[in-house]
Amino acid sequence: MAESALARLAGTAASAHRERARYVDAAGYRTTVEIRYWTDPAEYSAWLADNDFWTAGPASEQAGFFLEVVQPSVRRFETLFSNDRPEGIAVAGAGLSGEIREHGYWGGARDRMPLAQTDPLAPSGTVAARRDGDRVTVVPNSNVCLIRSGEEWTETDGDERRMYLEDVEPALRAGMDFLRDEGLAIGCYANRYARVLAEDGSETDKSFGLSWWRSLEHLETWAESHPTHVAIFRAALKYLAAMGPAARLRLYHEVTVAEPFWTRFEYLGCHSRTGLLRAVS
Ligand code: HEM
Repeated sequence: MAESALARLAGTAASAHRERARYVDAAGYRTTVEIRYWTDPAEYSAWLADNDFWTAGPASEQAGFFLEVVQPSVRRFETLFSNDRPEGIAVAGAGLSGEIREHGYWGGARDRMPLAQTDPLAPSGTVAARRDGDRVTVVPNSNVCLIRSGEEWTETDGDERRMYLEDVEPALRAGMDFLRDEGLAIGCYANRYARVLAEDGSETDKSFGLSWWRSLEHLETWAESHPTHVAIFRAALKYLAAMGPAARLRLYHEVTVAEPFWTRFEYLGCHSRTGLLRAVS
C-alpha cells in the first residue's frame, strides 16, 4: 500500500524541486517522505488535486499517511548556506547572494527574516484537531515555526569523513533523538532526522533535521542554550577549526514562521505521536 502510493506520487505533475527521504519515527515506524517545493501556487493546487487520492480514507491497516503543507510569504522565510550548492527552495532560485553579515551569532536567523524586523512573531492559541472518519486535520497555533536543517558529506574523505561521522554526527543524532522523544516539553512539536534517498531508493550522504516548533523563539532557545545543540555546535567548530577552508562538509537550513491559514496538516491512520498530532492540546 505505502509503496504503491509512493509510486503513484512519483508519476505526477511538476514542482520546482522534489526529494525523497527516510527516517524512523517516534514510535519506531520506518517512514518515507516526499518533499516538494513550488514557486507557483497554481501548480501546487494542480498537484494536490491529482494527489489527494488517499485523504478521504479509509485508513489502511498496513501504513499511515500524512500531508503537511506550508505556504509562506518571502517575509516569513529565510534560508542560509555554508557553501554554493543550493538545496530546498533555493534550487528554484536564480542563484545565491554572496556572504551576508547576518550569521555567526545567536539571533542571526531572526535577523534574516524580513517580517521579524517589525514583528516579534510570538505564538498564540493552541494546536487543535478535527476528526472526520479516519482522517484527522490539525490546525496549529499562530506563528508556528518550521526548520529544515541539512548536512551533506558526499565530498569528504579520509580524516575529514571520519571526523564528521565519528565526532559531529553522533552529537547531531543525540540532539535529533532528544527533540523527537522529549522535545515537546521545550516547544518542539515534532522532529524527524531523515536521510535523503537517491532515485533508486539508496541512501545518499545527505541528511536533515526537520522540526515543527511552537515558535521561532522556542527554536532559538534550543539552538542557543540546550546542551544537545551546544554539543552539535561545539563538535562542528572543532571540526571546522581542524579542516580550515578545505572543509567539504556542506550545511544549510531554511526556517519558516507560518500563519495557520497558510498551512495544511492531514493524518490518515497515523499514530498519535505523528507530526503535529503529538502537540494537540
Ligand atoms: C551537523 C549539524 C549542525 C551543525 C554543524 C550546526 C551548527 C550551527 C552553527 C555553527 C550555527 C551558527 C550559525 C550562524 O548563524 O552562522 C547554528 C545555528 C543554528 N542551528 Fe545548528 N547545527 C546543526 C544542526 C542543526 C539542526 C538539525 C537544527 C534544527 C533542527 C539546528 C538549528 C539551528 C538554529 C535554529 C540556528 C540559528 C540560531 C539563531 O539564529 O539564533 N541546527 N548551528
